[in-house]
Amino acid sequence: MLDKATEFIRSIAAKEDPRSFSLFGKSGTGKTHLAMNMYRFIYANLRAYQRPLSDIDPEYTITDLHNVRFASWPDVCRQLRNGTGDRLFNDLCRHWFVVIDDIGAEYESDAMMANLTELADQRLGKWTIYTSNKTVDYYDEKDERFASRLFRHNGIVLEITSVEDYNRRS
Ligand SMILES: Nc1ncnc2c1ncn2[C@@H]1O[C@H](COP(=O)(O)OP(=O)(O)OP(=O)(O)O)[C@@H](O)[C@H]1O
Ligand SMILES: [Mg+2]
Repeated sequence: MLDKATEFIRSIAAKEDPRSFSLFGKSGTGKTHLAMNMYRFIYANLRAYQRPLSDIDPEYTITDLHNVRFASWPDVCRQLRNGTGDRLFNDLCRHWFVVIDDIGAEYESDAMMANLTELADQRLGKWTIYTSNKTVDYYDEKDERFASRLFRHNGIVLEITSVEDYNRRS
């Protein structure tokens, strides 16, 4: 897991074409911990690592280029449901580097699943980390359009099977 995370961070440092890094695994296996640490590292090295998205898509403005965001997907869903999440959703679609934490932690309605697929679609070609306590198979069944986007553009998809729940270690 750590070697793949390192490979992903190195590809950002080398200003390669953006891709995604998806971590699937049971609760307590350290997905959020790893994603948060990767986020902090990128945040700390932002200026050195950024390659303007406008290199890739001229539509992007300067404000999109310098933004990073860590978002809990259940929080995003809550805001979208109560009508206050449009700005956040739009930011998550556009920012240069985004972590979407905890996909599938709560049951996703068809509407929220459609939002998630739309988000994954918008994030193709931008740096993205997803974490989920479900499995890839779960999303293959639930919405294969979403699952297939995780693998596009050389996306890294990891299923953690060998780590025990950190909270249950003696
Ligand atoms: N590498 C690590 N070393 C020490 N403690 C860790 C490590 N990774 C995670 N932990 C601790 O284990 C606990 C669970 O980790 P985390 O919240 O990252 O799990 P998770 O996989 O995101 O779980 P969930 O699916 O429930 O969100 C946290 O208290 C975290 O600080
Ligand atoms: Mg988590």
